[in-house]
Amino acid sequence: MAKKGTPLIDQLFNTLFPGNQSWNKKTSTLLVSIAKTTFADGTTANGSAMHDMGAANMLLTMQANSMGISTNLMGGFDRKKITDLLPLEANAVPVVMITLGFADDAGKLDEFFKTSELAPRSRKAFSEIIFYQP
Ligand SMILES: Cc1cc2nc3c(=O)[nH]c(=O)nc-3n(C[C@H](O)[C@H](O)[C@H](O)COP(=O)(O)O)c2cc1C
Repeated sequence: MAKKGTPLIDQLFNTLFPGNQSWNKKTSTLLVSIAKTTFADGTTANGSAMHDMGAANMLLTMQANSMGISTNLMGGFDRKKITDLLPLEANAVPVVMITLGFADDAGKLDEFFKTSELAPRSRKAFSEIIFYQP
């Protein structure tokens, strides 16, 4: 996790894909969410590692949002650059990056992101994503 003004945030920023860089220029904080794929013994696979990481991310998101801090998850970054940059063990997998900051006027965004930010939100119906057999 790196905050604005540090060398690390610039290095993390440089791993973002260009589309994500365009709207992250002023972010306060960039965080790399890393799943540890084994248990503490370092060898036994933890099959729920991705779940654990995602659940932690969701709680972080909810806590931040409750404090008025905006978050956005990003899969759009160069994983090779991240693993070259950070001293990660073999069982550590960078999965998403999270940007945290205070939301600004959407009108300041590049056109593509402005359109998507201001667009009405739609979500899939539960019937599309949940299999239920009564
Ligand atoms: C795993 C994951 C990866 C994502 N990667 C990106 C990304 O690289 N760039 C981006 O702009 N949005 C990305 N998103 C989408 C945003 O984080 C966000 O969920 C989306 O903009 C929906 O926002 P809304 O809740 O305001 O509709 C990703 C979402 C998830 C869950």
